[in-house]
Amino acid sequence: MDAVKIDGKAIAEALRDRVAGDVALLQAKFNVTPGLAVVLIGNDPASSVYVKTKAKHAQTAGFKSQQFRLPGDVSEAELLGLIGELNADNSIDGILVQLPLPRHIDRWRVLEAIDPTKDVDGFHPYNVGRLAAGRPALVPCTPLGVVHLIRTVVSDLSGLDVVVIGRSNIVGKPLGVLLGDAGCTVTGAQLETRNLARRSREADIVIAAAGCAGLVRGDWLKPGAIVIDVGINRVVDSTGTAKLVGDVSFAEASKRASYITPVPGGVGPMTVGYLLANTVSAAVSRRGLSLGVGPRPAAYSHPTSASKLVQAGL
Ligand code: GUN
Repeated sequence: MDAVKIDGKAIAEALRDRVAGDVALLQAKFNVTPGLAVVLIGNDPASSVYVKTKAKHAQTAGFKSQQFRLPGDVSEAELLGLIGELNADNSIDGILVQLPLPRHIDRWRVLEAIDPTKDVDGFHPYNVGRLAAGRPALVPCTPLGVVHLIRTVVSDLSGLDVVVIGRSNIVGKPLGVLLGDAGCTVTGAQLETRNLARRSREADIVIAAAGCAGLVRGDWLKPGAIVIDVGINRVVDSTGTAKLVGDVSFAEASKRASYITPVPGGVGPMTVGYLLANTVSAAVSRRGLSLGVGPRPAAYSHPTSASKLVQAGL
């Protein structure tokens, strides 16, 4: 039987609804409207679409949403100046600078200039260190979304073997920390890993985040594995049509896995959902407030019945 698709689009919609409810609560209880500033440098078409989507969903959920589009030749000093203004603006709770940046700008100088309490991407070394140390932190959005999706099909992750392919600061590295904290045994793999197919075949959960179209084949999976595809690769098919595909050969993997995320409509929408959730978290903690509805970001997770673990054959 083919794997069940994990519907990231629907799960993210539910997450955004919960965030919108919290925004309404913040307004009703404290007269606070959380503010998100999204900064895009240059006109990379993919980044432009991502930024538009982030700003649109922020607005729909009731945030004050601001977009800053700077030309590709903007100076680093000018960008740092904007970040300084956003840091000082109390109506802004979250600052996101879309990556990648043009080559003449030092990415780390920019990321480190963002006030860590407004760092809703969780990329500032302060938050990276806090996450690694097990302290409350703003955590990168895509890894939060991945763990959330996994928890919709397995509530207790403890003891499971996970292979994460790809070790980026945005996805692979923080995922290793989150999954380790959840009790998983995490193998941090990459394209250079020897016997990658064999290692992948030993895992209960395979997470592909290497940026390599169709990397994970059907025979890389043990029967019943859970497959999370973080890849977003633009490819041109034999008819000359461009389309988006993940890092997993979906048709093959569906024949072996128990659950699998599609591309698009899997992990992508969750990243935006957690950007909004992180912005509420930042607004609440920066202002020393409490919504009285439980801790964040755990309040946004959707644990389901442990029996799903059995269904997944793990
Ligand atoms: N570029 C690709 N993914 C991301 C992300 O999650 N945040 C930012 N700021 N840039 C990205």
